[in-house]
Amino acid sequence: MKKIAIVIGTRPEAIKLIPLILEIKKKSNLTVEVCSTGQHKEMLDQVFNLFQITPDVELKIMTQNQTLADLTSELTKRLNNYLIDSKPDFLICQGDTTTAFVSALVSFYNKIPIGHVEAGLRTNNKFSPFPEEINRQLISKLADFHFAPTVDSKESLILENISQDKVTVTGNTVIDSLFIVKNKIENNELEINSDLVKLCEQKQFILVTGHRRENFGEGFENICKSIKILAERFKNINFIYPVHLNPNVKDIVEAKLGGIENVFLIPPLDYINFIFALSKCYLVLTDSGGVQEEAPSFNKPVLVMRENSERMEGVNCGVVKLVGTNFELIVQNVSLLLNDKEAYESMTNSVNPYGDGFASQRIVEIISNYFVKE
Ligand code: UD1
Ligand code: UDP
Repeated sequence: MKKIAIVIGTRPEAIKLIPLILEIKKKSNLTVEVCSTGQHKEMLDQVFNLFQITPDVELKIMTQNQTLADLTSELTKRLNNYLIDSKPDFLICQGDTTTAFVSALVSFYNKIPIGHVEAGLRTNNKFSPFPEEINRQLISKLADFHFAPTVDSKESLILENISQDKVTVTGNTVIDSLFIVKNKIENNELEINSDLVKLCEQKQFILVTGHRRENFGEGFENICKSIKILAERFKNINFIYPVHLNPNVKDIVEAKLGGIENVFLIPPLDYINFIFALSKCYLVLTDSGGVQEEAPSFNKPVLVMRENSERMEGVNCGVVKLVGTNFELIVQNVSLLLNDKEAYESMTNSVNPYGDGFASQRIVEIISNYFVKE
């Protein structure tokens, strides 16, 4: 039996790696060990609880308003100790968080092969997203297996001289999770919060999320200003905003948008309730990566409050539009989609370009074969 360590730190890593955990458990030659760094706390526990996953190891590193340097140094020490104690045969990290980068780094120090899930996303802009663009470029230098979600992400890796035979287009595991949750909702296996159901049925609504570090300060000021103007202009529309727990987000959003009648600031939703809200909304206003990948499955237009994106597939299909954080542009684009049915419908018809629900199966097959051949 070969031991596969899966390292998870934040909400999106958990959402995107849980289908892989379930898939590894089906393999007779592999065993899985889940290491939670706890870079996130409440938002991570929400996902583990939902999927009834108990991490084998918990490093519990989150502190309030943690700095990148503290996070990185603490993670380096604790993850290195974890690898020395546990001696896994293979390590899987996902995406571009600090947890993902540091786990790849210490895995390299300990000469443990690394599989990178969601490899090859690029803006080629060092500061956007910050620090994720550099995290993922560094992970690509360290990884041995690159699981690219799309053909475009594979091409980005080839351009960086990553050996072609180490890169596989697998689809994004986020779609695997989405299918698991959609099935559970359709089979009534999971209950949706009744207050949320009422809120979603009350009026047509726009679902809002936001958390990117490069938007802190002026970016979030503009985002809040645009939502306030839109809420005044469109009283027949609700704005449902599950607010990220980062104090740099929460404090400003609550100060600027609290108390507006048709703006509902709510705590982060657990994944199933979030997917339910996504399936019911009119459109999505977000700076999130994962939400851009999920929304096309529900034919929901997505306006992305960022200047650039590493996920251009959605933009190229016409279902996603980059609107930046200029408040006039946000107001203009949301107003257009609320007023012009044709403009709205032109953004609702596409096949999800990010995956088919079988990404985890493909990834685990590659890892399993690697050990058979070894
Ligand atoms: C992190 C990732 C980002 C990812 C995002 C997903 C890094 C540098 N950033 O950003 O790539 O897109 O997660 O959401 O890896 N907090 C809580 N409870 C939680 C989670 C966060 O209170 O469950 C608060 C804490 O005060 C914490 C702060 O949010 O210090 C920031 O958390 P951190 O993980 O450093 O950054 P995020 O902005 O969440
Ligand atoms: N999500 C969630 N609850 C929320 C908001 C988002 O479960 O209240 C999920 C969403 O479905 C997606 C993921 O969290 O799968 C995105 O996480 P986030 O936006 O924090 O990070 P990013 O994807 O930008 O790294």
